[in-house]
Amino acid sequence: MKKLRVGILGSGQGSNFLALAKVMQNEELPIEIGWVGSDRAEAKILEHAKSMGLPAGACRRGKFKTKLEPEIEEELAQKLAEAGTELVVLAGYMRVVKEPLLARFRGKMINLHPSLLPAFPGLKAWEQALEAGVKETGCTVHWVNEVVDGGSVIRQMRVPVKAEDTAELLHARIQEAEHRLLPEVVRDLAEGRIPWLKDPRKK
Ligand code: GAR
Repeated sequence: MKKLRVGILGSGQGSNFLALAKVMQNEELPIEIGWVGSDRAEAKILEHAKSMGLPAGACRRGKFKTKLEPEIEEELAQKLAEAGTELVVLAGYMRVVKEPLLARFRGKMINLHPSLLPAFPGLKAWEQALEAGVKETGCTVHWVNEVVDGGSVIRQMRVPVKAEDTAELLHARIQEAEHRLLPEVVRDLAEGRIPWLKDPRKK
């Protein structure tokens, strides 16, 4: 089976990238990572990628916190395209995705979010869950469109909220679930068990 070429964007620690890379080391999967990118040159995810010998780099930071200027986002889109990316995985990428990425990768871009969407979109979803007093939260992988955390849901995993939970404890429990969910979804997309709008490998 032809391998699915994956590009990964992240802004932080990169634990979900590591979880995916680990599954790829342990199992024979029709997946290859073509490029790892970030909006932060100091993001740990880039260090991890480089230490594995994967091509990785950051775009310019820009002057806004929550989004990139179109010409800067275009740098990321360009890099991903040059790497032959067929699926973009947002793994802790903290900028709102705009037209430059969407125009090129609509229907080919998924995002991992730390709640059971549509509940608690936006930042620090685990804190939102604690404040709301819910008994259960979780994580979601969804297709990316122009609505923040609003694209159609691909798969979710449930996580209990415990009475003694702090924000850190709950986030850690959600991350354990994320580390299983994200590799599972990427594998199932690559192996054709999750429907694509159009399989990027079939011309
Ligand atoms: C993950 O928990 C992910 O769900 C969250 O950032 C963390 C990244 O962790 N993403 C969002 O909140 C996106 N809105 P990682 O860098 O260790 O993979």
